[in-house]
Amino acid sequence: MEEIRVNIPQNEYSIYIGKNYLSSLPFHFLNYSSVFIITHPFLAWQYGEEVKEGLEKKNIKPNFIFVPSGEKSKSFKEFIRIHRTLAQANTDRRSVIVALGGGVIGDLAGFISATYLRGVDYVQIPTTLLSQVDSSIGGKVGINIPEGKNLVGAFYHPKAVFIDIKTLDTLPEREFKSGLAEVIKYGVILNKELFEFLDKNYEKILKRDEKFLTYIIKESILCKKYVVEKDEKERNLRMILNFGHTIGHAIEAKGRFNKFLHGEAVAIGMLLATKISYLLNYCSEDTYLRVKNLLLKFDFSLDFPYNFSSLLPYIMRDKKVLSKKIRFILPLRIGEVFINEEVPLDLVKEVIDKKEE
Ligand SMILES: NC(=O)c1ccc[n+]([C@@H]2O[C@H](COP(=O)([O-])OP(=O)(O)OC[C@H]3O[C@@H](n4cnc5c(N)ncnc54)[C@H](O)[C@@H]3O)[C@@H](O)[C@H]2O)c1
Ligand SMILES: [Zn+2]
Repeated sequence: MEEIRVNIPQNEYSIYIGKNYLSSLPFHFLNYSSVFIITHPFLAWQYGEEVKEGLEKKNIKPNFIFVPSGEKSKSFKEFIRIHRTLAQANTDRRSVIVALGGGVIGDLAGFISATYLRGVDYVQIPTTLLSQVDSSIGGKVGINIPEGKNLVGAFYHPKAVFIDIKTLDTLPEREFKSGLAEVIKYGVILNKELFEFLDKNYEKILKRDEKFLTYIIKESILCKKYVVEKDEKERNLRMILNFGHTIGHAIEAKGRFNKFLHGEAVAIGMLLATKISYLLNYCSEDTYLRVKNLLLKFDFSLDFPYNFSSLLPYIMRDKKVLSKKIRFILPLRIGEVFINEEVPLDLVKEVIDKKEE
C-alpha cells in the first residue's frame, strides 16, 4: 500500500492507495464513540459490508445512512435529513463519519461533517476515479442550490483518505473515462511524465490494469496535493486546476447536467483551451495536436451540439469570469500552463463555432 502525506496548515493527513484492504482500514476507529457510514445502498452492499466486517472484528458496530445516487442528493434536503438522523441517534463530537462513494457522497458527507456540532471528524473512501484523483483531495465540500452548483460549502479536510482500487471494478465505463479526463488534465498542467505515460499505456489503463491504475492515481494525487498545499483557498495557483473547465462547465450546464458527464465536457474544454493557446501563439501546434491525439486515444468524443451564443450565458456566469474579460488556463507546453485573464471573446467564439475539422 502506498501512503501520501498531505500537509495543509493544521490539517495533516494521509491518503492511502492499495487494493483489497477495505476490511482492514489503517485508522483508529476505536478512538471514536460511534461510526456513521454515509453511502448509496448498492455501494453499501458491494463494499460497505467489508468495511463493516472489519470494524466488527474490533467490536465496533457502524451505522449506515443511505443517500440516493445522483447529483440531486447534494441538496439541503439531504443535508437536513442527515443532520436530523445524526441528532436522533444522539451522535456526539466523538463520532466519525465515513464517506463511502464518489464525489457526490464525499462533498455531501464532508459538508455535513463540517457543520454537525460545528465539526466532527470524517474519512473518505472514494469509489469513483474522479473522486480518487480529484474531489477527495483538497478539502472542498458542499452542496448545490437552484442558483448553482457547489454554491454552499466549506473547506474541511478529512482525517484520512482510503483509496481501494478494487472499487473501480464496478464503475461504469463512462464514469471511469470521465475520471480519466481529470488525469489527463494533471498531465497537461503539471506533469509531462504522466502525460507521456498516458500516451504510451492508454490500452492498459482502459483495461484498468492494477499497476497502471495505481500509477496514474498516485501521480494525479501528487499533482493535486502540490497545488492545494501551496494555495488551499484558490487565491492563485489552485486556479490552474480549472484548465478545460470554463468551456467544459458551460457545455455541462447547457446539457442540463444530463447530456455530458463532467469529464466528457472537460475533455472538450481542454481541447478548445489548448486551441486558444495555440492561436494566441502561447503553445506550438505540436502541443495542441498532442493534447488532441491523447483525448482521441482515450476515445473522447470531441463533438458537441452547441454554438457560441448558446454557451455564452454559461461562460459568463462561470465564476472564473471577472468583469467580462475571460479568464482561461492556457498551456505553454505539455506540463506547464499559465493563467490568462484576457482571452478575447471573439477568439472563444471562433474555436467554439468552427468546431474540429
Ligand atoms: N470537492 C471537490 O474538490 C470536487 C472536485 C471535483 C468534483 N466534485 C464533485 O464531485 C461530484 C462528481 O463526482 P463523481 O463523478 O464521483 O460522481 P458520483 O458520486 O455521482 O458518482 C458517479 C456515479 O457512479 C456511481 N458509483 C460510485 N462509485 C461506484 C462504484 N465503485 N461502482 C459503481 N458505481 C459507482 C454513483 O452512484 C453515481 O451514479 C460532483 O458533484 C462535483 O461537483 C467535487
Ligand atoms: Zn473537474
